[in-house]
Amino acid sequence: MTINGARILLPTVYNCLIFAILLPLFSTADDILLPLDVKSKCPGAEDAITKAVTNAVAGNKGLCAGVLRLHFHDCFVRGCDASVLLDNSTANPNPEKDSIPNKTLRGFQVIDAAKIAVEAYCAKNKSCPTNGCDPVVSCADVLAFAARDCVKILGDFFYDVYSGRPDGTISIAQEAVDNLPAPFFNITQLQSSFAKKNLTLEDLTVLSGAHSVGVAHCSSFEDRLTSINSSQINVAFANSLKQKCTNGNVTVPQDYVTPDYLDNQYFINNLNNTVLFFSDFALRTNTITEDYMEQFGNNYKLSNPNTWKDKFKCAMQKMGRIIELGPNQGEIRKVCSAINVS
Ligand code: HEM
Repeated sequence: MTINGARILLPTVYNCLIFAILLPLFSTADDILLPLDVKSKCPGAEDAITKAVTNAVAGNKGLCAGVLRLHFHDCFVRGCDASVLLDNSTANPNPEKDSIPNKTLRGFQVIDAAKIAVEAYCAKNKSCPTNGCDPVVSCADVLAFAARDCVKILGDFFYDVYSGRPDGTISIAQEAVDNLPAPFFNITQLQSSFAKKNLTLEDLTVLSGAHSVGVAHCSSFEDRLTSINSSQINVAFANSLKQKCTNGNVTVPQDYVTPDYLDNQYFINNLNNTVLFFSDFALRTNTITEDYMEQFGNNYKLSNPNTWKDKFKCAMQKMGRIIELGPNQGEIRKVCSAINVS
């Protein structure tokens, strides 16, 4: 590939990009996303975002789990275009935020803080008109960078993020329902939901590892507790969840072993039938995904203890390259919750 600078990327990025070269549907992302886009427009912008994210989650690292999920919910609906952040839209009075799967999203304030910080940083030493400088970093890029920073904060590992994602102007609640996988999905439904975004069964399994951080509302998995199926969920685990949920808990940690650490514990839990959603368990019902689960969950048996982390870096980059807007479409928003007024 002949993108400027692509050859100087770190090996992990280069390896991951091989997928993008082979898949024609990624050609628009290849046209739009560049390794140095934000770096050349405003050197230091990424650091300004990292600082703002770190400050914004300092008192509550759980917000970082929210940011990871925000990025996923953004990229699966109209591509990574920050449509999930909009309060208004040119097309519909009900933006994605209003849909049922998005009601439990959190971390919006982290993205707002990072956007304000990065635009202030990039405007420093510039003389701008009285109504302010033109914005430099799109909200979709801010979200992709913030998700990367949150991986570092929660899991202590790092990957590079390309930039140049345009912000969309359309956000429709029904599209979130139509595109986001639900916690009651079986493996066929999960596979098809990910395949529509050009993501494989391996990507599905790897990315599901994000369920090693953050929380879930009891309402998202309570159907599994009404009549406990002991071949699908550990009975003692199910009973402890039942107790928590009836004792007034609204949420429980996704990973009861290392709840705040982004690691491969999710896979170990899944192999032990101690994960929350039917969709998590569903990864055990297919020989291919079950095999990945074994690899990631039992990686102490392999020579490389970082198997899952390396795969997760690539899969996050790949998810962050789902672009559905064309090269001349979209805008760079001034404020992440609203489209620009012309
Ligand atoms: C495979 C299909 C997936 C399904 C069905 C699914 C479903 C869910 C559900 C139902 C919740 C709990 C919402 C609540 O009750 O508050 C949740 C939480 C979460 N999900 Fe997923 N998810 C999937 C994939 C992903 C992916 C690909 C990522 C990121 C790469 C992700 C990251 C998260 C995180 C970090 C949380 C915790 C959020 C928080 O603490 O605020 N999920 N997911």
